Amino acid sequence: MYFESRHIIKYINFAGNQFNHTMNGNEFSNNRRSFLKGGLTLGGMALLNPQKALAAATEKEEAFRILAGPYLQTNFGNSISILWITNKNAASWVSYGTSADALHQTAFGKSELGLKPAGRINCVTLTNLKPGTTYYYKIASKEIKDFQPYKLTYGAALNGDTEQFVNADPAKDSVSFVMLNDIHDRPQSIPHLLNLDKGNRRDFVFFNGDIFDYQTDEQQIIDHMLQPCDLFARSLPFVYVRGNHETRGKFARDFSAYFHHVGHTAFTLGPARFVILDTGEDKDDTHPVYAGIVDFDVYRLEQARWLEQEMRSNAFKKASFRIVMMHIPPRYSGDAHGAVHCTQVFEPLLNKGKVDLVLSGHTHRYKIHEPDKHGNHYPIIIGGGPRDGSRTITQVTASKKEVRVRMLDDSGKEVGSYLVTKK
Ligand SMILES: [Fe+2]
Repeated sequence: MYFESRHIIKYINFAGNQFNHTMNGNEFSNNRRSFLKGGLTLGGMALLNPQKALAAATEKEEAFRILAGPYLQTNFGNSISILWITNKNAASWVSYGTSADALHQTAFGKSELGLKPAGRINCVTLTNLKPGTTYYYKIASKEIKDFQPYKLTYGAALNGDTEQFVNADPAKDSVSFVMLNDIHDRPQSIPHLLNLDKGNRRDFVFFNGDIFDYQTDEQQIIDHMLQPCDLFARSLPFVYVRGNHETRGKFARDFSAYFHHVGHTAFTLGPARFVILDTGEDKDDTHPVYAGIVDFDVYRLEQARWLEQEMRSNAFKKASFRIVMMHIPPRYSGDAHGAVHCTQVFEPLLNKGKVDLVLSGHTHRYKIHEPDKHGNHYPIIIGGGPRDGSRTITQVTASKKEVRVRMLDDSGKEVGSYLVTKK
């Protein structure tokens, strides 16, 4: 009988992960030789100090770089946020101005308790912008190489290209945007659908939830949203509200750090007041899949109180049109607890506030629901997705007199349209 001599070796690779591998005698000696050779190419450091060798190798592999961005987000009102992600902690800022050759103004991320940010996820908000004006900007990050209490050492510096955007005039005559919803981790759908709108000037792109299936890690956010958004987001802002799927997964509690805003909010642009509601989960908070760590009934009630307050504002009352955007529609999405709770909590308020239009997703079947005097007193337009053939892009234009909605399927064919006129 023949026995091969075998060796079990414990490795630590350069990512710091441990793994075992069983090898025969020849493999063992060959690999040992190449391992020693690899160690020696690091100046013998691996033999003398494996920790140091690991750090040196990691440093060598990981040059300071931008992982995603810049991408713009805004709630309008003459301010815009510029976000980008670096692979290492950094001191960051934005140089900007109204001429590409004169970026004389500088803005930093928001200081917290007197401390400027020094992390990897950068968000710099430019404020007091001039309405209807083109701005040019350049992002900059300086790697924080070593952070000692009394001596901070900077490493490499990065400068982005000069980018530009138009700061939308809040008092403009008309507003125009497109809505995407329920992409569900299919990043190729974002450019595919946006290309169907090519040539049209928009003020923003609106993501109405469920862009992901659940949140896993940063790489997913980059690969499945920020990277495909690079098509437009350096120069055109997006507005984003969570769907029920963005609340799921181990990274859901880190997710909001990658965006200026993903929850409920309201803003005015031109003749429309936009009210955005975060409708939370679709199942009961006590459902076993949530394992007792969600609280969406309370969250929806909080938003209802906020909505009542919003409805008392002059901005809401005086707008020519009131457009509400929410992932789970306030009706027509089944009898799951979240959907029913949305009807109970939001519908009476939306009726009372004389809302003109609601835009939603969630059902994965595009549909236009007419106003109904026994239920929703306003039209509810639901986008499709995520499968080929049911994906949609919804085009919305509002003037002082009317709101026009067109829904295209993923072949570019119009599958729905709606006109809201001033009452
Ligand atoms: Fe969905």
